Amino acid sequence: MATPIATHDWFDDARAQRVSSLLVDWYDRHHRDLPWRVPPRDQASGLRSDPYRVWLSEIMLQQTTVEAVKPYFGRFVMKWPTVSDLAASDSDDIMKAWAGLGYYSRARNLKICAEVVEKEYGGRFPDTESGLLALPGIGPYTAAAIAAIAFDRPAAVVDGNVERVFSRLGAIATPLPKAKSEIKALVAKAVNLNRPGDFAQATMDLGATICTPRRPKCLMCPVNNECLALRQGDPEHYPVKPAKAEKPLRRGAAFVAIHGDAIFLRKRTAKGLLGGMAEVPSTNWSSRADGELIPAAAPFAANWSKTGEIRHVFTHFQLELVIFRAELAKKPDVSDGWWAPLEFIHTEALPTVMKKAIEAAIPGATKLQRKAKLS
Ligand code: ADE
Repeated sequence: MATPIATHDWFDDARAQRVSSLLVDWYDRHHRDLPWRVPPRDQASGLRSDPYRVWLSEIMLQQTTVEAVKPYFGRFVMKWPTVSDLAASDSDDIMKAWAGLGYYSRARNLKICAEVVEKEYGGRFPDTESGLLALPGIGPYTAAAIAAIAFDRPAAVVDGNVERVFSRLGAIATPLPKAKSEIKALVAKAVNLNRPGDFAQATMDLGATICTPRRPKCLMCPVNNECLALRQGDPEHYPVKPAKAEKPLRRGAAFVAIHGDAIFLRKRTAKGLLGGMAEVPSTNWSSRADGELIPAAAPFAANWSKTGEIRHVFTHFQLELVIFRAELAKKPDVSDGWWAPLEFIHTEALPTVMKKAIEAAIPGATKLQRKAKLS
């Protein structure tokens, strides 16, 4: 097999320059018309992006799609055409206009940021990445995006779409999130110094329309000749996702005591996992610790015999319970539970894991009851 090509060998300076100019050329022809954008044709007559509109759109676009944002953006700029208008507005009106966009802390920060820009910067946004980063509610991504789009600063703007485009161009094998610095380095190398804002928006548009997560349209891609992932034959493989953490396996024992046609149940403590639900007695397993596995751990002495094992998957761990059963001629002297007739077992607040435990000891017990209930 041929030695695989390393990312840094593939994405050399010459290739970065080709990608840089191919992307802005493509943007000239295929950019999306979006209400906060000044398209290349209008830039020719000297029109520049309004930093207020860029800022507002970037805050709205965090965690929200372009299509969802469009009507909100239109209403906001109609009502508050400048950052000074927004700074002077009523917070409740902002919250009302934002309602439905979600992540409401963004709306609260919007007003705070507008006030700072108004009071401390005379109503003009700072024009550098670091200046923008100092404003409330503006993180590294947003600062880079505004610096590039509104002020044509050569910032490397990396959102999820851009991450996908560049991890594919360089076939970056490192899984996310560790790959972020490698991806950013590739973007920084390719930034178009003549048109940083359009370059940033070109990479976003390419990721949204061509270099999609599933079934990317590589035949139509302006940089398909520069893409190592495509050359390797499986662009969808990138960006490489982190392996899902295996859920820890906890173990414990559960005891099904049978007396006549009833089994012994008790109530779990109110706090914690399955709090307040019914259980057959079990040893003190938890998401963090195993319980004991021996009959001696049972709540009362009986002729316990192992009857099976069950598995149950909780949100943060898997549980394996060894099930013991015993038939008792006489009720033991215990005060903290009750004897539940099998006929009415469906009326008990038994979580699935406990139903499984009972089934292991008395096959059909919970299912029969469900049938009985239905008929
Ligand atoms: N997603 C985030 N910012 C964007 C922008 N300026 N244009 C298009 N999509 C975006």
